[in-house]
Amino acid sequence: MIAWGATLGDDGVDQGAEYVQIIGGPSAESHPGKAAYEQNCTACHGLDGAGNALLGAPRINDDIWLYGGDLDTLKTTLRQGRFGIMPPFDARLDDFQIKLLVALLAR
Ligand code: HEC
Repeated sequence: MIAWGATLGDDGVDQGAEYVQIIGGPSAESHPGKAAYEQNCTACHGLDGAGNALLGAPRINDDIWLYGGDLDTLKTTLRQGRFGIMPPFDARLDDFQIKLLVALLAR
């Protein structure tokens, strides 16, 4: 995900991080981060934060986090973005093991 710091500004990052923590909850409706979330984030994460597997956008309305759900980590995620990629496995798996894994995943 790209960095949102320049788009949202410091207050926007703070409000966005708070909003992610309460998304879907009763206090989300009146939260000041709601409008910016709906404008910038719903295309990938959905209105309710359910995410979109086709876009690689994770669910953000539960307690399972790639990087962390505490306020400081959420602010870092929004301010700097995350550019996670899967590590290569060619040094750890041989061709046969990779073929077996592909066959397993393609079932
Ligand atoms: C173009 C699609 C896209 C948009 C728009 C987008 N995101 Fe993301 N978001 C992603 C992807 C993809 C990841 C996973 C990034 C990675 O692992 O490197 C992510 C990761 C995250 C995470 C980390 C979740 C975790 O489990 O740690 C949070 C929080 C988040 N986004 C919130 C937001 C917020 C708030 C906005 C709006 C300001 C937003 N995103 C806009 C695609 C998007």
